Amino acid sequence: MQIEKNKSLRNFNTFGIDCAAKYFISINSQSELIEALQSSIHSNLFILGGGSNLLLTKDVDALVLHINLKGIELVNETKHHAYLKVNAGENWHEFVQYCIHNDYGGIENLSLIPGNVGTAPIQNIGAYGVELKDVFVNCSALEIETLKKEEFSNSDCKFGYRNSIFKNEAKGKYIITDVTFKLTKEEHNKSISYGAIKDELTKNSIKEPSISDISKAVISIRESKLPDPKKLGNSGSFFKNPIISDLEFKSFIEKFPNAPFYKISETAYKIPAGWLIEKSGFKGKKYGDAGVHEKQALVLVNYDNATGKELWNLALKIQAKVKEDFNLTIEPEVNVI
Ligand code: EPU
Repeated sequence: MQIEKNKSLRNFNTFGIDCAAKYFISINSQSELIEALQSSIHSNLFILGGGSNLLLTKDVDALVLHINLKGIELVNETKHHAYLKVNAGENWHEFVQYCIHNDYGGIENLSLIPGNVGTAPIQNIGAYGVELKDVFVNCSALEIETLKKEEFSNSDCKFGYRNSIFKNEAKGKYIITDVTFKLTKEEHNKSISYGAIKDELTKNSIKEPSISDISKAVISIRESKLPDPKKLGNSGSFFKNPIISDLEFKSFIEKFPNAPFYKISETAYKIPAGWLIEKSGFKGKKYGDAGVHEKQALVLVNYDNATGKELWNLALKIQAKVKEDFNLTIEPEVNVI
């Protein structure tokens, strides 16, 4: 186990923010994880996965554990399903590609989402009509205080829109070490009703898409709208789409009849934050090196050397203007430190 001091986290967060960790350990095995947790290097702990949902506004005065546990294991198989146990440090998109290569279906719509397997359940990642919870069986997690291993089933996780128990009552208490997925073999349940996927498949004259075709379509849609963090620092959607009650929706849509919306239940509606931000005039705007992406207003970008504070100030400015223009509060999806 190697302890590094004052380590730059620039390569460990997809915004590419140059903040430092007081202490840093890359965790490559369960025993290293236990050893690091038993050490008393620093009283504060900070658990780092793929760094794709993180905005660092200051140096991290803590022991940063970079969860780098690797490995994919087929733990069970039936005629129609494969159960894969995947260690937390596997890159999410590489895992999706592994599944497509082996013809395991269920996560092709989640292609190209940045981040790692172990952090995917925390915010129940989702895109194009599929969410992690649709394929999630359980995960193992180490309780930080007791060093006991616990298992969380799908219902234990209390998944919601970009939400789970790990963002609420279990926040900061556990380290997810592996996740087990239930994926389909041969007869896949394909989810292609989402408009953008349908259009992309039609454009390429694909009538009976394979999971590989769906993955390629998703990659192409995402690449056309979302910046590649390797080229332009960003952390995907910066804000969540606000959810409002039917009463609030009634007065909102009277004032803004052209607004897009999704009805998510009899009494709740989701309004695309990207639309609100665009209409508030921020799309494509740049303030120094901090900016709003020109093709997707929901994404904040670091054009070169923006600090976390500059990006956060921009986020606050957007939040205030959206509130002023629409009387709606948009909340960050990323963790701001
Ligand atoms: N829109 C605008 N202007 C913009 C962006 C969007 O008017 O600049 C409008 C679009 O025209 C559309 C609506 O907003 O009517 C929704 O846009 P889009 O379909 O692009 O999806 P989204 O709601 O902005 C969500 C997820 C994405 C996910 C897509 C596709 C959240 C916060 N974001 O975005 O997730 O890829 O749906 O399913 O729920 C992420 O979490 O990092 C992420 C990229």
